[in-house]
Amino acid sequence: MTSPDIIIAIDGYSSTGKSSFAKLLAKELDFLYLDSGALYRGVTLFAQEQGYITADNVISPELEQALQTLDLHFSSDNSCFIGERCIEKEIRSMKVSSQVSPIATVPYIRSWVDCLLHRFASCGRVVMDGRDIGTTVFPDAQIKIFMTASEQVRARRRYDELLAKGQNPDLEEVKANLKERDYIDSHRETSPLARAEDSFLLDNSDMTLKEEVEWVKGLIRGRFLLYD
Ligand code: CDP
Repeated sequence: MTSPDIIIAIDGYSSTGKSSFAKLLAKELDFLYLDSGALYRGVTLFAQEQGYITADNVISPELEQALQTLDLHFSSDNSCFIGERCIEKEIRSMKVSSQVSPIATVPYIRSWVDCLLHRFASCGRVVMDGRDIGTTVFPDAQIKIFMTASEQVRARRRYDELLAKGQNPDLEEVKANLKERDYIDSHRETSPLARAEDSFLLDNSDMTLKEEVEWVKGLIRGRFLLYD
């Protein structure tokens, strides 16, 4: 399918499969994929390693200045890097998951990430996923999707993902982390997770990735009157 140059914004709760869906969709449409959550995770890893965040989530004000020289970016295969170092494995760990939502409540960190996203997306033809893409980062995105799935399905998916990556997850810990992040993400003051009024709802509890992609292609065809 040949799609027009548009921005597709995908938001939703933790572990609803946003990244896998967004990645496959971008591949099929020949779009750029941008994982905004990876940037919040990258900032979290940086803050942890450099001592800008304590175990009880006290964030040093010096982090703001340090961000000015932080080189956080993606490679062509969507892996996240700090400078030359690939940080994909570290940013998906439970250690980073346990502090990313407090980090993502901080307004100057959100502005810093938003700036990066705008810079990376300047070419158009982008699929981006996160929590506030359709509401704050790209409120004019032509297609907005809000993803959800049952708690059980989401926890199981994240558990299996961590297992496949060679980690040793605990299902109850995974469940508690998803719950906690959803709560913090939906209740923070700056850009809380919320469904954009003009978004399409996608509950993928009982859908395959392929079905999800076909569904959104149908939306694009309908909206732009494409017939191929
Ligand atoms: O993949 P998962 O659902 O675990 O989350 P993620 O997309 O990697 O995002 C990790 C965390 O970053 C979220 O729980 C949010 O706290 C934060 N985030 C955000 O606040 N705004 C975004 N646009 C993306 C992520």
